[in-house]
Amino acid sequence: MTTGKIALITGSNGGLGQALVDRFLAEGYFVFAGVKDLSMDTVTRPNCMTVQLDITSDADIEHCHREIAKVGQLTVLVNNAGVSGWGSFWKRELADEQAIFDVNLWGTVRMIRSFWEDLEANHGLIVNIGSISWAVPTPFISAYSASKSALEKMVLGMYLEKKRTAVRVLHLNLWPLDQGMCGNAIAKESETYNEKIRTHMVKIQKFHGFHVENVAKYILRFSESDTRYRVVTLGWWAKAICFFGMLVPQPRYQKMIGRLYKSV
Ligand SMILES: NC(=O)c1ccc[n+]([C@@H]2O[C@H](COP(=O)([O-])OP(=O)(O)OC[C@H]3O[C@@H](n4cnc5c(N)ncnc54)[C@H](OP(=O)(O)O)[C@@H]3O)[C@@H](O)[C@H]2O)c1
Repeated sequence: MTTGKIALITGSNGGLGQALVDRFLAEGYFVFAGVKDLSMDTVTRPNCMTVQLDITSDADIEHCHREIAKVGQLTVLVNNAGVSGWGSFWKRELADEQAIFDVNLWGTVRMIRSFWEDLEANHGLIVNIGSISWAVPTPFISAYSASKSALEKMVLGMYLEKKRTAVRVLHLNLWPLDQGMCGNAIAKESETYNEKIRTHMVKIQKFHGFHVENVAKYILRFSESDTRYRVVTLGWWAKAICFFGMLVPQPRYQKMIGRLYKSV
């Protein structure tokens, strides 16, 4: 049993999730590192327990609940797990597009529902990892961006229904990171892109990719603040693009995006 702070991070076997686990451990948290497939994970560290947690599985979530209860009370829930599914909507199966919503929206909502009471009792924090693609029309990941957009609206609605709640919420809309799914997609599914897009994405990641460490630092800083609910777009590039998207008339903006993705 610990009297210290406990964090649960979903999708923590790589990318941003891994960086978050490291950072929370360094800050003295006891960390539950949720992984979709426990058999893949072999790393054991002090104050860190790896748990089987497919966020679309009620059984896994209940199991995770029980494991945390053995140690203490949850302080921070980071809903980091997500899937992208790059490729043309018109070439992909509808079921695959729905599966993106099952994880990014319904899986995350399921986590929030199950851990809400614990976080309420502990004045805890929920962190949801979104994407700037909610603000930018994004062909070839349309279901992904729609799911992240829906998550933001859904969680706000859920939060507003809970009057005078002690739970705090941070929704982070992220620009492409310097590692994780964006890079994986480029490497694994490059046939989806034409050369222009691929070069563009590689450049973004290499030169402007948001450092996962900085995301972790921001979350830790926020966890110490008194802010109750915040939606944040991280990084100057991301902020500029969202701002630009609001300033430029929609038909013009769509034309520009369309031209960028043309003939893919
Ligand atoms: N990388 C970027 O450029 C970028 C930009 C904006 C937002 N984000 C967001 O940041 C978060 C982390 O992504 P990442 O870039 O670090 O990508 P990643 O390396 O692919 O990490 C995603 C994690 O989610 C896990 N996951 C997938 N389905 C799951 C499920 N049903 N239950 C539990 N875990 C599941 C994956 O596990 P497996 O590996 O076992 O499948 C993986 O550990 C995501 O929510 C993503 O949408 C990323």
